[in-house]
Amino acid sequence: MNKPVVLITGAGGQIGSVLTERLRLKWGKENVIASDIRWSPLAKEGSFEILDALDIKRLDDIVITHKVTRIYHLVAILSANGEKDPLRTWDINMNSWLNVLETAKKHQLERVFYPSSIAVFGPHNERVQTPQNSNLNPTTVYGLSKVAGENWATYYNSKFGMDIRSLRFPGLISYQSPAGGGTTDYAVDIFHKAVLSEPFACFLKNDTRLPMLYMDDALRATIELMQVHPTKLNPAISSYNLGGLNFTPKELTSAIQKVIPTFKATYEPDSRQVIADSWPDSINDSDAQNDWNWKPQFDLDKMCVTMIEELKKKYSAQMSDSIAKA
Ligand code: SER
Repeated sequence: MNKPVVLITGAGGQIGSVLTERLRLKWGKENVIASDIRWSPLAKEGSFEILDALDIKRLDDIVITHKVTRIYHLVAILSANGEKDPLRTWDINMNSWLNVLETAKKHQLERVFYPSSIAVFGPHNERVQTPQNSNLNPTTVYGLSKVAGENWATYYNSKFGMDIRSLRFPGLISYQSPAGGGTTDYAVDIFHKAVLSEPFACFLKNDTRLPMLYMDDALRATIELMQVHPTKLNPAISSYNLGGLNFTPKELTSAIQKVIPTFKATYEPDSRQVIADSWPDSINDSDAQNDWNWKPQFDLDKMCVTMIEELKKKYSAQMSDSIAKA
């Protein structure tokens, strides 16, 4: 098989910054082009293009110049930030996606990846082990845009014979880059406070259970899904449910305290609580398990140990850097 030439849009974000690294390792630096609306340190390690994904002409030029064969479209305004300006969120989330779809169709790209989200679900779904085939009734503009985005993917697949693949990501937890304006961000922020020996004020109630996943598992899921033979995938599934972990802020605090016993958290819910209350507690991902053998590898304790170790290394490297510069 020829190696694909990959373009990642929104590569500077939480998923993109680590997915770019992973795909560069897999396919070679020369075959992975990171792009974002603003400069990112990814530019130091390989090909990088400034791209406003609302600019279809620029997108088209990049695809032609680099002979791109696959796109991972990671541009999006997430749930909490999205509510601050609903029409702008809709514009960016939908029109950037339609630009990618049109460009992929024009150049007959081999494959496209679209991240969907647990935000497609709403308060009327089964909350525990939310099934794949639920009625989708989201309450946020981000969720509305992801439902529409999934449907557009199915439309392009069936009408134009394209191969667009998608996952419904739960809250993603990573140490490499900050979370970007979502309702699940607390589960990243909490680790930074714990490692810095500071108390954490959580913006959700202590018993709000949400589906989550460690980034390493999310990346593996993405890479595995994109490699599966097309006949293994169910064309009736617009985006695969992806489960892994689920926990409450209190459970996460206790798991962190096993490693850092002095850590303390308080719970001060804000407007994000309403969004969290409309989402599932946990996800049924049996279709992903059956169709392409999805299996997460990180449980809560393993994730906490890894996050804390990695963040300690990161902060002590930053400290040595600033001492060296002083
Ligand atoms: N992490 C996202 C959010 O909170 C969910 O996909 O918006």
